Amino acid sequence: MTLKDAPRKLRYAMVGGGRDAFIGAVHRKAIALDGQAELVAGALSSSPEKARASGRDLFLPDDRNHADWQSLLADELQRPGDQRIDFVSIVTPNHLHFPVAQAFVEAGFHVVCDKPLVHTREEADALVQAVARQSTVFGVTYNYTGYPMVRQAREMVRSGQLGEIRKVVVEYNQGWLATRLEGQGNKQAAWRSDPARSGSAGAIGDIGSHAENLLATVTGLEIESLCADLSALVPGRMLDDDGSLLLRFVGGARGVLIASQVNAGIENDLRLRVSGTLGSLEWRQEDPSRLVHYPIDGPKRIWTRGSPWLCEAAQRASRLPSGHPEGFIEAFANVYAGVFADIRARTDGAASSAHADYPGVEDGARGVRFIERTVASAKSGSQWVDW
Ligand SMILES: NC(=O)c1ccc[n+]([C@@H]2O[C@H](COP(=O)([O-])OP(=O)(O)OC[C@H]3O[C@@H](n4cnc5c(N)ncnc54)[C@H](O)[C@@H]3O)[C@@H](O)[C@H]2O)c1
Repeated sequence: MTLKDAPRKLRYAMVGGGRDAFIGAVHRKAIALDGQAELVAGALSSSPEKARASGRDLFLPDDRNHADWQSLLADELQRPGDQRIDFVSIVTPNHLHFPVAQAFVEAGFHVVCDKPLVHTREEADALVQAVARQSTVFGVTYNYTGYPMVRQAREMVRSGQLGEIRKVVVEYNQGWLATRLEGQGNKQAAWRSDPARSGSAGAIGDIGSHAENLLATVTGLEIESLCADLSALVPGRMLDDDGSLLLRFVGGARGVLIASQVNAGIENDLRLRVSGTLGSLEWRQEDPSRLVHYPIDGPKRIWTRGSPWLCEAAQRASRLPSGHPEGFIEAFANVYAGVFADIRARTDGAASSAHADYPGVEDGARGVRFIERTVASAKSGSQWVDW
């Protein structure tokens, strides 16, 4: 390799993630962690003034600090290739994911988009087709799949250490919407409880989608049918803030999925239990460096992040020796690392990288289908509905 073709830092733009936003800053920190990409452009907020002020906070030059995402895209398209962004990160409220992602994919850019991917199945299908047509890389930040011990759990299921999977219980419990925050000026609560911006679901879309993705990633099981009870337990709320589902999987396994944002006092209690004929696994995101394995024929074992006996994918996802805590931002960075590996592979003319371990547009589309079927079941009076 000559100096000329040495790998370079990737360039990216961000849409959303301005002042006072939550997840955009997490994305930027996660991207910065491995020094593989730099922010060069943005359209960071819903109002032109706030967008520009947010871009100045991040030292964006004026000519790449845009008032809206359409100007950002138009500007990128007229720039020479050696200045152009490689990818865009979309961290807006849900209703903007589809138009922004579709426009950037159609223009040939790689995209990372937060979840839930889009509002409807039709939009999801259109995006899947656009990504296939353009051969672009598309990552969806189901960030919990980036935890090393989630990857270890996936490997233990895949390699048969649990035997045949019979039962999966996944819960995502939060308490921050236990009061009507959307009526008190909290903007994160306001858009999440507004069907026009959040989509057809509240808690099920916001955190139930993470639960669905976690169970699918670790177990590989496909939902065959489901039965859902959704409620808005806080008076006056327009979308569900609490959901309980029964799941039947192809092949006969059974599951339970809970997503609730009204568990007063609870923080981010995402937890998974997978049970097979040979044993069970338990993982909790509030204690993410430990994975508990209960074999049928011996004492329980606690596997820890950073230890040498973990699988290759789990080891690759760790940056610090065992015992030094890693967490949310590192898990996000692991999703990005997979996306970057794929973007670099495409640049080198390969279809994909061996390290492309990240949720893609198909996972996002499956998440949209999950939300749609869940809402359909709930609306039918909690009838069982086929996938
Ligand atoms: N993966 C995760 O763990 C995780 C966590 C939180 C949020 N999310 C997802 O991330 C997204 C953002 O959530 P959040 O909590 O950060 O919301 P937020 O309200 O804190 O931030 C949204 C940002 O988007 C900006 N925005 C709105 N309209 C825009 C427009 N037209 N152009 C440019 N920017 C615009 C807002 O000004 C704000 O800066 C949502 O899709 C949410 O579901 C994912």
